[in-house]
Amino acid sequence: MILIIDFGSQTAHLIGRRIRQLGIDISIVQPEDVMGEIQQKKPNGIIFSGGPASVYEKGAPTIHPEIFSLGIPILAICYGHQLTGHLLGGNVQPGKAREYGPVMLELNRKSELFDGITDNHFRVWMSHGDEVIHPPSGFEIVGSTQNAHAAVMQDLKRSIYCVQFHPEVGHTQNGEIILRNFIEKICHEDVSETKPDIQALIAGIKKTVRNGKVICAVSGGVDSTVAAYLIGRAIGKQLVPVYVDSGLMRSGTIERVKTIFTTYIFSHLIIVDARKLFLDSLHGISDPEEKRKIIGKLYVDIFQKEAAKQKGVTHLGQGTIYSDVIESKGTKNASHIKSHHNVGGIPDTLRLQLVEPLRNFYKDEVRELGRIAGLPEEIISEHPFPGPGYAVRIRGEVTRKRLQQEAMADGIVVEEIRKSGLYDTYFQCFAVMTGAYSTAVKGDGRVFAEVVAVRAYESDDIMTSRWADIPYDVLQKISSRIVNEVPDVSRVVYDITTKPPATMEWE
Ligand code: XMP
Repeated sequence: MILIIDFGSQTAHLIGRRIRQLGIDISIVQPEDVMGEIQQKKPNGIIFSGGPASVYEKGAPTIHPEIFSLGIPILAICYGHQLTGHLLGGNVQPGKAREYGPVMLELNRKSELFDGITDNHFRVWMSHGDEVIHPPSGFEIVGSTQNAHAAVMQDLKRSIYCVQFHPEVGHTQNGEIILRNFIEKICHEDVSETKPDIQALIAGIKKTVRNGKVICAVSGGVDSTVAAYLIGRAIGKQLVPVYVDSGLMRSGTIERVKTIFTTYIFSHLIIVDARKLFLDSLHGISDPEEKRKIIGKLYVDIFQKEAAKQKGVTHLGQGTIYSDVIESKGTKNASHIKSHHNVGGIPDTLRLQLVEPLRNFYKDEVRELGRIAGLPEEIISEHPFPGPGYAVRIRGEVTRKRLQQEAMADGIVVEEIRKSGLYDTYFQCFAVMTGAYSTAVKGDGRVFAEVVAVRAYESDDIMTSRWADIPYDVLQKISSRIVNEVPDVSRVVYDITTKPPATMEWE
């Protein structure tokens, strides 16, 4: 196994993921726990992650220097690279020019780390202020960038390899080869491309829950479905899935959830019909934040009531995935998304232990798990849908009529995009009731009715997106179907705004 020391990097987990994909066990630890973990887990290699601190900052994370003389190979990345330079007596200084983003790396010495890379000059991704000016004794410089002379250094005797750049991020060319070389050639691990281990996850859930009972809010989306599937496989009837029907979800959601729990997961599904309650509570409310708060609170209240009716519930199952975990520590907006999405507040008030089998996985890994589990492709590949549902796609007050219009218009967008074969290439595509009104002539009469916007975009990381080039003939089809089939719509516009600045949802 490989130990990863997290010095506060956004990408420590990504390093772990890359290593796990090579079929190698990993453990991510805090710097202060490392020596104990080494004794216990006996790793074949150690990776130091990056981190936001400067080695000279008060309270900057550090590590017991004994780690360098244990004979266990070390790969030190970014902050790890600087810390190694600093602790072993090299000279680390604030760099003359900070490097952020892509820079060219020039290799000038052989290293096993770069075996199999034919080009001595390739693009790497940097994000650092400090710089190793002189490597510690015993180290030789292997590669440089324009601003970082000792961008790569190695001490072959002690098997320590340091890189200023981030091999784990997709923008670094040859990053996967570099990590693989470290694992295979330097740590001598047997690498095998691997798929997520469902059996191990199921065994973990069994061990956690034992004879307890797990209540789980489900939505029919990929995360909660895969989580419920794993929990269901582990504990069978001890799983209590609850679907709160807010009436704000896409058409067909309830049938879909029922099918999931009769065909793939065999636990008795509790359905709470709260459609009227949601609609009544949203009456007269048009402020986006107020809508979100009302919806979030209703979900929590209803779920809590349901949980209280169940006897012997010990755990709360959630489909939290790794990006939720990161977002919850991130921006205010992101943590808000998370709090709603994962029914925030419930764990505290119900005093239930959490079961979150997907907490360490990225979306594409969750999809992979679902596929291995045999869940149908239509569930696995479905676009994400916001927790507050259509309420954030209806600008202004949510009324029964506008909800119907939205569901119809959205259904048309998705259907036509699916027919065009482009569904899987977009991150999301949907319709928005804009709240704007315009004139149209329908039949022989003038109508003054609502404008529907179509939004579709591509995104890798949710943080940024570009609007999708939906072919004109598909846009044409969508537009004419919406104005013809959805009552009281006067026109259709296409939203051509990137994120940032515009968020994906309109509210
Ligand atoms: P934005 O609009 O913030 O959306 O660019 C980014 C992603 O998050 C989804 N989203 C939400 N999900 N509760 C959720 O569960 C929310 O309140 C919420 N707001 C946005 C959005 O659909 C997109 O995938």
